Amino acid sequence: MLAMNYRGPRRVRIDQKPEPEIQHPQDAIVRVLRSCICGSDLHLYNGSVPDTRVGMTFGHEVCGIVEEVGQGVENLKTGDHVLVPFNIACGKCVFCQQEMYGNCHESNPEATAVGGIFGYSHTAGGYDGGQAEYVRVPYADVSPTIIPEWMDLDDAVMMTDVVPTGYQAAEMGGIQPGDTVVVFGAGPVGIMAARCAWLFGAGRVIVIDHIDYRLEFARDYAPAEVYDYKELGDVVLFLKKTTDWIGADVCIDAVGAEATGRAMQTLLGKQLHLVGGAATALQWAINGVRKGGVVSIVGVYGPIGTLVPIGNVVNKGLTLRGNQASVKRLLPRLMEHVRNGVIDPKALITHRIPLEEVAEGYRMFSAKLDNCIKPVLIPPRARS
Ligand SMILES: NC(=O)c1ccc[n+]([C@@H]2O[C@H](COP(=O)([O-])OP(=O)(O)OC[C@H]3O[C@@H](n4cnc5c(N)ncnc54)[C@H](O)[C@@H]3O)[C@@H](O)[C@H]2O)c1
Ligand SMILES: [Zn+2]
Ligand SMILES: [Zn+2]
Repeated sequence: MLAMNYRGPRRVRIDQKPEPEIQHPQDAIVRVLRSCICGSDLHLYNGSVPDTRVGMTFGHEVCGIVEEVGQGVENLKTGDHVLVPFNIACGKCVFCQQEMYGNCHESNPEATAVGGIFGYSHTAGGYDGGQAEYVRVPYADVSPTIIPEWMDLDDAVMMTDVVPTGYQAAEMGGIQPGDTVVVFGAGPVGIMAARCAWLFGAGRVIVIDHIDYRLEFARDYAPAEVYDYKELGDVVLFLKKTTDWIGADVCIDAVGAEATGRAMQTLLGKQLHLVGGAATALQWAINGVRKGGVVSIVGVYGPIGTLVPIGNVVNKGLTLRGNQASVKRLLPRLMEHVRNGVIDPKALITHRIPLEEVAEGYRMFSAKLDNCIKPVLIPPRARS
């Protein structure tokens, strides 16, 4: 089959790989109809996620048709159209029982933090992902969800990560009615977080990035007040000024460890690798939120320490929350929001790229060219 193949930092290509097979009675094989490239894939692409092995196929945002099921699978059958959440979850362990599907203790048993994730390095279990014609889906009875008749495939694929992650970012913020919410990052996740902040009762939503076309998109879609951090000068000072010198009630980090914006962070974290990435947005979030406020982190950071002002967290009495989104937990509610038109996920998809052109897709999305918000890869057999 055709599959994306990681060859080392900033080198990916399309290749022929063996089709995946059922390895366990709980497995399913899914023929891919759509798979997105995510901001999370860029951390892999840039070589900044530990134990990303040459030969791996990325891709954790997938929907498709069930091709085959293992003997133990009861909830799916061949021919079903499914969306496959990015978390691989057993459904039974102590964390899955608490609906922490992103922290499954079985699907990534060597790890103490994240659970299994499709196509996300051996740090997240070493599973091949869905930027391919087929993907093996473990624990097939647990997370894969039948796509309802009324739901468009483009909406379905956005339900595997972007919509739940944006929603959970807002949810973890503990937003109270009237709150001022600041979202760092106007990528698909930040844009969705800003949209969802309103659902929790925000009174004012601000989005900060430095890429104009993304800020314009966020302004119209969320909708939100938007600012280019390069024009703000001191971002934290600006946030204080615009909130009567109090600070924002909630700050959301939808950027992660490869932030731009401060030369020192970039030098230490991205160029010299002395710390685990550049946590510039997280710094601004911690310093720009009010005393007693909440910082919600969905931007991805590795296991290595980053430079964050932890003293300010203590002295300001902040609550820090973060996680990989628990997609399965949120799906029922979010399906309703899509059905009722409260959230329009596919509006974020700007590019439909043939799977064969995956290398170009990564290049474009990584460099934020051609006004790209969210690219979707489409395998040849799904294009007819
Ligand atoms: N926790 C989860 O479950 C989960 C799921 C999906 C994605 N993520 C993470 O969320 C983050 C965003 O994902 P995405 O797909 O939107 O990525 P993206 O790369 O499309 O967007 C990131 C945006 O952040 C902006 N940015 C960079 N530095 C900034 C700064 N200092 N301040 C403000 N904005 C800055 C960039 O210009 C870019 O527009 C990534 O770290 C990704 O790994 C987490
Ligand atoms: Zn993703
Ligand atoms: Zn589990």
